Amino acid sequence: MSSPPPYEDLLDYVLIDADRLQKRIAELGKEISEDYRHFEDIVLIGILKGSMLFMTDLMRQLTVPHSVDFMDVTSYGVGVRHSTGDVRILMDLHAPIERRNVLIVEDIVDSGRTLEHVLRLLWARRPASLRVCTLLDKAERREVAVPLDYIGFQIPNVFVFGYGLDIDEYYRNLPFIGVVKPGVVILDEEEGKDDS
Ligand code: PRP
Repeated sequence: MSSPPPYEDLLDYVLIDADRLQKRIAELGKEISEDYRHFEDIVLIGILKGSMLFMTDLMRQLTVPHSVDFMDVTSYGVGVRHSTGDVRILMDLHAPIERRNVLIVEDIVDSGRTLEHVLRLLWARRPASLRVCTLLDKAERREVAVPLDYIGFQIPNVFVFGYGLDIDEYYRNLPFIGVVKPGVVILDEEEGKDDS
């Protein structure tokens, strides 16, 4: 397997630099801490894998006590590179959420299908409350309406990577959100779904 090219070969321009990201995450942390200040128990649920970096930076900005859990979902069938519209759980939560206050942490909401599915699934487990915090909202691509309680940035309909978002599983470690150069082939996008 050949190594992926350096990110500079794929980067058109930086959409949100590291400084802007961290400033906005600090604001979100403050807002969430304020809103949840009277809640005794909060659990943040990160949707893997894209939310990894956002989750760890966001939790460091929270001043309210909270635990974390993770769920890995995909909108692809196993071994399939096109969207099946069928969202599957690859890894479920470790703990029950009944009567708990849950905040879902996402990196990006695109069509909204992943989140719609996760919300339906989690509401069925009877949490005390369920809210959503997404770093990026690509509203232009929405296919199903989903409630977003906290939004880091509204972004245009461009292909983004970095800060948790991958191109074929690479570049999640970049500290900024970049836009992919036109002409770069992204397997998922070729088949009709953004690889964000
Ligand atoms: C991305 C992202 C969201 C979802 C958004 O995950 O993290 O969970 O897609 O797309 P949607 O609104 O169109 O459903 P992806 O399936 O690419 O997995 P990853 O986070 O592991 O990269």
